[in-house]
Amino acid sequence: MNDTDDSDRELRVSKIRNGTVIDHLAAGQALNVLALLGIDGSGGESVSVGMNVPSDKLAKKDIVKVEDRELSQSEVDVLSVISPEATINIIREYDVIEKKRIERPEAVTGVLSCPNRNCITNADEPVETRFVVLSDGLRCDYCGEIVREDEIATHLDVS
Ligand code: CTP
Ligand code: ZN
Repeated sequence: MNDTDDSDRELRVSKIRNGTVIDHLAAGQALNVLALLGIDGSGGESVSVGMNVPSDKLAKKDIVKVEDRELSQSEVDVLSVISPEATINIIREYDVIEKKRIERPEAVTGVLSCPNRNCITNADEPVETRFVVLSDGLRCDYCGEIVREDEIATHLDVS
């Protein structure tokens, strides 16, 4: 652990005992991450959010700390699309027990709904959504509809 001035400044968001710290998010992505995780405060979760926090790796970053929750793989997959630089830290009894450097998947399945109403995935068929990951968005594998990076949050299908 390097005790730089930057990590001292980060302590404006306090440490958590158990849960997940999503660190090094691109500045501006914290609210999208909360949408992805289905967190709007109504569930009573303890969540800390830092926006535009100084960082040594990025000029500025966002950070989200969710207590008593560890992320599923499909949640990590979508996170990697909205913020490929993010780091997922699993915390148990105050220690970082796992650090996942997320990787961009080739495709994500079952996490986004297709904006095209005529798409087979929106018909009453047992077809799971599947989007191919592009550099700046995703493409529906069934109908070719494009979801741009800045539209992802509004098409999240994670419950
Ligand atoms: N963290 C936390 N609660 C804990 C332990 C860590 O909120 N009980 C946070 C830290 O504030 C940091 C992140 O989890 O934002 C990762 O912690 P750590 O690995 O100790 O920090 P760094 O070495 O700075 O992480 P990195 O190498 O990813 O920059
Ligand atoms: Zn489609």
